[in-house]
Amino acid sequence: MEPPPYEPGSANNMNNPWQYDETAQIGTDYRDESEVRAYDERMQKLRNLASEAAAIAQSLALSSDSTVWEIGTGTGECAIALARAAKHVYATDVSPTMLEYARRKANQRGISNVTFADGGFLSGFRPLHPVDGIVTQLALHHLPDFWKSKAIAAIAACLRPQGRLYLRDVVFPSATVDYDSFFQAIIEGVRAHAGEAVAQQTVQHIKTEFSTLDWILEGMITRNGLTVVERREEGFLSVYVCEK
Ligand SMILES: C[S@@+](CC[C@H](N)C(=O)[O-])C[C@H]1O[C@@H](n2cnc3c(N)ncnc32)[C@H](O)[C@@H]1O
Repeated sequence: MEPPPYEPGSANNMNNPWQYDETAQIGTDYRDESEVRAYDERMQKLRNLASEAAAIAQSLALSSDSTVWEIGTGTGECAIALARAAKHVYATDVSPTMLEYARRKANQRGISNVTFADGGFLSGFRPLHPVDGIVTQLALHHLPDFWKSKAIAAIAACLRPQGRLYLRDVVFPSATVDYDSFFQAIIEGVRAHAGEAVAQQTVQHIKTEFSTLDWILEGMITRNGLTVVERREEGFLSVYVCEK
């Protein structure tokens, strides 16, 4: 099947000297092939990826006519699953290694309605026409807050009216009184569920990555023209379903 048209590289702002370089990975280096393979194996073990994708398809109200854009697709599991419920999926990432891995996986599974393209929240791929849904999981925290807001503005611009965003990421709850105890409990929970290596990655996430407070994220969402229609907390993670 011929993929619908898109404009690769249409949001290339990299000429601005102040532009945040989103291709420089923070935390885990997802350009490293062994990290990518290990990430895929870990996620297959720790997550129920099929039921995650089913919940996303439902939240976005996808039909066989829908077009979807996944930003930060990683190893492509979600994009490939959504391709079965939608007409076309664009799946983008700033890691060429992730994209190659995901592309290979889609080919092996006989999926032909996913276009994998180089692009992040701030630069690269943009759909030529507004899409029905945008998904991003565990990726927005790679950007510092100002750039998160720019990313959400770009997302809003690429959605059709009433189109939906499914955003799932680590978000810090502002109702927390004692963050040290909160983080300690999260890390112990992760250690019990996923082992020491993932617990240490969680420590590094808190220390060096850019997860933000819920009220800041919600301000960015609403000030960029989206309405939160559902918010769910899943331990350390939050899901925001938003509508344009
Ligand atoms: C933790 S993985 C999550 C992958 C996948 N979404 C999942 O749920 O398993 C984070 C992904 O975000 C990508 N990423 C990092 N910064 C990004 C950016 N600015 N724009 C798009 N993707 C980005 C990384 O390359 C990596 O593939």
